[in-house]
Amino acid sequence: MPVPLFDTNTPLDPLREQIEAAIADVVASRRFILGPQVAAFEAEFAAYCGTRHAVGVANGTDALTIALRAMGIGPGDDVIVPSFTFYATAEAVPPTGARPVFCDVDPDTYCVSAETVAAALTPATKAVVVVHLFGNLAPVAEIEALGVPVLEDAAQAAGTRSGAGRPGSLGRAATFSFFPSKNLGCFGDGGAITTDDDALAAAVRMLRFHGSHDKVTYEHVGYNSRLDELQAAILRVQLPHLDAWADGRRDAARHYDEAGLGELLSLPAAAKGCEPAWHLYVVRTDRPDELAAGLREREIGCKAYYRLPVHRQPAMLAIADGVQLPVTDDLARTHLALPMTPVLSAEQAREVTAAVRAVSLDHARRSRA
Ligand SMILES: Cc1ncc(COP(=O)(O)O)c(C=O)c1O
Repeated sequence: MPVPLFDTNTPLDPLREQIEAAIADVVASRRFILGPQVAAFEAEFAAYCGTRHAVGVANGTDALTIALRAMGIGPGDDVIVPSFTFYATAEAVPPTGARPVFCDVDPDTYCVSAETVAAALTPATKAVVVVHLFGNLAPVAEIEALGVPVLEDAAQAAGTRSGAGRPGSLGRAATFSFFPSKNLGCFGDGGAITTDDDALAAAVRMLRFHGSHDKVTYEHVGYNSRLDELQAAILRVQLPHLDAWADGRRDAARHYDEAGLGELLSLPAAAKGCEPAWHLYVVRTDRPDELAAGLREREIGCKAYYRLPVHRQPAMLAIADGVQLPVTDDLARTHLALPMTPVLSAEQAREVTAAVRAVSLDHARRSRA
């Protein structure tokens, strides 16, 4: 039985009619930009995250740049970012005029820690972007205790819970992506910034709208970066289901545990106090390419997302300036994402585990021969 790497269709199937009706309503209303759907989604998403504000923007990359600008980050400043993440986390920094400074990550949670951030601090550090990678949680309070404001990149962590609150409510501000494959995904590009800070939210609202609040006077050089009405309407249908989908992702991880996958590979570990809505289920193995080839032969989806970490990407080499990130390099070499969906069944988890076992046995046989 083939098992896909992800499945964005099955969870949405029961909502198709509702989504189509929501789209038709927006089309009939002829309000497409910054209308009632965006306003309602912003209120609902802020309530979900437990923040005073949510501001819809065009995508998760703009969300990072705009949030950093609203936090006062600019030329001459350093912003600490992990390198074991999607490229956009670092790419969003130079447009503010600041410099990304790469830090290492924790080998168990794959997220930045207070130690890895402390090791990267410079006299010019003005902010840290922590990534709640794969749905896990970075220790925001511990990092803020170092005396630097934290921007949470929560693009992959919608639906995650923790004793300290939800991602989005833990730092000075947070950013989300609603790219279609995300835990909460729209039908195109979309993003949001959440914060409890009224002034910061007001600055974000202005920056997403050409640096103006009335399109008459322009106070900043801003962006044209809005979540649109169609996407907001689609997200509003989905948001009430996010927690159930997140439970499905947690169940899927439990299915893998119960199937004995941990006897074959190193499994991802939830951060302390965190119940991750696993966006990707990323394991580690010493022979990732061999495992990937064997799984593909058996029609099990898998992917190495960050084989070349950001600090080694061509566009970042000069900025990274030879920084040494041994844990990042090791994770980049050894990681592999296995199937993860809100509807991954116990049977599918057993199928994946059996395929991993078969690939290991093949290897053992070949080594003996
Ligand atoms: C960790 C992380 N940060 C930022 C982004 C950028 O979001 P977007 O694609 O919506 O610009 C993504 C996803 O694409 C991501 O996974």
